Amino acid sequence: MPHVPTPPAPSADKRWKLVTTSLRRQGNAPHALIEGMHAVQQAFGHLEPASLRYLAAALGVPLSKAYGVATFYHHFVLEPPGAHTCVVCLGTACHLKGGPAILSAVERAHRVKAGQTTAGGELSLLVARCIGVCSLAPAVVLDGDIQGPCTPAQVLERLAPCFEEPEGSPR
Ligand code: FES
Repeated sequence: MPHVPTPPAPSADKRWKLVTTSLRRQGNAPHALIEGMHAVQQAFGHLEPASLRYLAAALGVPLSKAYGVATFYHHFVLEPPGAHTCVVCLGTACHLKGGPAILSAVERAHRVKAGQTTAGGELSLLVARCIGVCSLAPAVVLDGDIQGPCTPAQVLERLAPCFEEPEGSPR
């Protein structure tokens, strides 16, 4: 197999060291693409275009393939995460007790779809399949804080401060 020279990392950010170490462990081979994507997402929280270009070059795979894989797997996030995160559980217990109503209330109120971030970057809306607290169903995780059982109105109320402008900001 021809040796692919490792290109320079996209920035001097030390987190790239973790990524390059992970790629090197796999011999910088094309089959390490998914593992490399995991490593980037773990280190940076998402996969931006520069990261995908880097992975494609480092592993000798076409950029189109890197984009294909990144968009195929819902696990991969292509946009920077929002300032706040809301995870709505849609596991069986939460689904039966109203999780879908919570999800659609947040989607409608903030014009965002599951897996996306609001246009202003305030909130990333995610879904999960059971977060392990079924006795709290329907449950959500707001900025890492597990809450439940919740009604759609309660979740919207708790999300409201995420959309308030900080004091002193220009109107
Ligand atoms: S199904 Fe939601 S916490 Fe288990």
